[in-house]
Amino acid sequence: MTQLEGTGVMRTRICSVDEIPPGTTMQCQVGGRSVLVANVGGTFYAVDEECTHDGAPLSDGDLEGPTIVCPWHFSRFCLRTGSVLESPAREPLRTYAVDTNGGEVTLLTTPAGTGVDPQVR
Ligand code: FES
Repeated sequence: MTQLEGTGVMRTRICSVDEIPPGTTMQCQVGGRSVLVANVGGTFYAVDEECTHDGAPLSDGDLEGPTIVCPWHFSRFCLRTGSVLESPAREPLRTYAVDTNGGEVTLLTTPAGTGVDPQVR
């Protein structure tokens, strides 16, 4: 984990982009949180891995385009925004900016562990 000078933004290398082929996801740990990274047609998204309804591991769910479907009660979440597309979940997922420059998947977070605006790359 490294810090971008003067921004407070932390960069955490996850893996090579080749390790998450299009249409697949990977679960990883960042700052003590479980995070789901998804490759949707070459665009990478990252959200909290735990479903906000009852804590299911979303890495066991189905990736349907830019949507992740919870394996337990089938809530649907938008990977771009973290928003709930279909209940029973009500709370959105936390999202994280992902940088793939240089062929590496890197998550950008604040020191508090929150995601940062995707514009901060
Ligand atoms: S635990 Fe995900 S919808 Fe219930």
